Amino acid sequence: MTRHSGNAGERRVRRFLRAFAADPVEALLYIPEELSKKSEHPVEYRVDEDWEARLHSALGAPWPCPEAARAAELWSTVAEELHRDGLAFGRHTYGFYSDADQALTRAVWCTVVHLRPEVVVETGVARGTTSRAVLEAMERNGCGHLWSIDLPNPFERGVQRQTGAAVPESCRARWTYVEGSSRRRLPQLLRRLGRVDLFVHDSLHTARNTRFEMDRVGRALAPHGVMLVDDISTHQGFSEWARAEAPAAELICPSDDGEGLFGFVRT
Ligand SMILES: C[S@@+](CC[C@H](N)C(=O)[O-])C[C@H]1O[C@@H](n2cnc3c(N)ncnc32)[C@H](O)[C@@H]1O
Repeated sequence: MTRHSGNAGERRVRRFLRAFAADPVEALLYIPEELSKKSEHPVEYRVDEDWEARLHSALGAPWPCPEAARAAELWSTVAEELHRDGLAFGRHTYGFYSDADQALTRAVWCTVVHLRPEVVVETGVARGTTSRAVLEAMERNGCGHLWSIDLPNPFERGVQRQTGAAVPESCRARWTYVEGSSRRRLPQLLRRLGRVDLFVHDSLHTARNTRFEMDRVGRALAPHGVMLVDDISTHQGFSEWARAEAPAAELICPSDDGEGLFGFVRT
């Protein structure tokens, strides 16, 4: 038992040293995130089982919505294309991170189609399911641009070459990929953009990082702007932000596989 955890500890140290050698700044920025997990606690939310109807109501769109079926089709297409290219897809397959599940993909698609945002910022790309959903929905709208901030998994270098694999060249005209952690890249991007219509958080799901991103983007969010925040139940970041900011609409949405929750807020 002791020997086993010692090995796990050694593996973590080796992974950290490799990450440090590749990018010392990003590796050092990870330390406070790791330490902050000690003060995290899971949150018991009251889940909005009818979240899709309520999300559409918050966006002023009718429900049932034919667009939800298009999003489901897109998710299956992404799964098939990645499979065809010999890549994995699903929970914990991009190192310890997961590809977006179907429910989050529907929420992203329908929010873009109904909100018609000009400026979308997301954090966390991995293979790029949510990026693809935003970009294809924007193409349908004929407007908008997506800025995606992403630090390719620093501890599992083998998956880095898969970053953005779900986003074909034909979808990239409206896309700017910004490499680096949100801690480093988000403040300067927000200063440059001035305003955000839609924000999708799907990067490092610590309370500290989620709260940092929501606080920063919250100050730049357009009136009636939307944030979609993945993986909110394992820490208190989303709930504390919502309590402090009291957004006009707040929804707690279950993933289709029942493994996680994501939040929707509209200011
Ligand atoms: C959950 S995955 C993203 C899933 C993706 N949105 C999708 O649709 O499948 C998290 C991604 O965020 C990246 N990441 C981790 N820490 C980050 C940070 N501090 N800032 C930005 N990206 C980060 C991970 O390497 C990974 O690419």
